[in-house]
Amino acid sequence: MATFDFSQLEARERYKLLCAAVIPRPVAWITTLNAEGGVNAAPFSFFNVFADEPPLLIVGIGRRPESGPKDTVLNAEREGAFTVNLADTALAEKMVATAADFPPEIGEAEAVGLAVADGVTQKIPYLKDAPVVLECSVYEIRYLDVDRALLMGKVSALIARDGLFDLDTRRLNVPHWDPVARLFATSYAPLGEAYSLPIPDWRTITGPKETSE
Ligand SMILES: Cc1cc2nc3c(=O)[nH]c(=O)nc-3n(C[C@H](O)[C@H](O)[C@H](O)COP(=O)(O)O)c2cc1C
Repeated sequence: MATFDFSQLEARERYKLLCAAVIPRPVAWITTLNAEGGVNAAPFSFFNVFADEPPLLIVGIGRRPESGPKDTVLNAEREGAFTVNLADTALAEKMVATAADFPPEIGEAEAVGLAVADGVTQKIPYLKDAPVVLECSVYEIRYLDVDRALLMGKVSALIARDGLFDLDTRRLNVPHWDPVARLFATSYAPLGEAYSLPIPDWRTITGPKETSE
């Protein structure tokens, strides 16, 4: 086995190892409002859901290349809200294009040709073509240092493309969902084939206990 002792590694090496080890990661394509009212959009793969009550998701946001917090965290802090758009494979190229280091006053959504719709439970617009959208109010922003933060959102609504969720059972129609997952560096992957694996009753695993006379 190879052991990488994190106390002996540069931050960049730790980043590369973590990014490659924890895959596939979902991508939160976050829309926020910039100070001029334009729609800022940027992808973040240090992301997942962490609780259902309250319904919380968390995003790890690093620093801008030249230092300072990224626009997404500053916008979310100012507006008290942000929206997570989930991209499918068809949107992957545009999603990655919004990661370019645009100046804060340029709205990436318009710059890369993405249509937006008015938010339903938040004033933040969402990306019209995104198959799934999670509108959030800011629950907490935990700064790890001056310009790295954990952005926590409390989900106030899930908006989904027609046919993706069964309206009665709330179950996902898996073949209709083609999410894009981040691997590392410039590599991405589709979902792959789903299979079912029910949790067995523990008694079927341990078998009958042996008795001694
Ligand atoms: C697929 C993908 C995932 C990314 N994930 C993260 C992430 O988890 N955290 C982060 O700080 N930056 C991440 N980035 C980089 C940001 O998207 C990029 O810095 C962006 O310009 C930030 O925009 P903003 O300043 O408008 O917030 C990612 C980029 C890509 C292409």
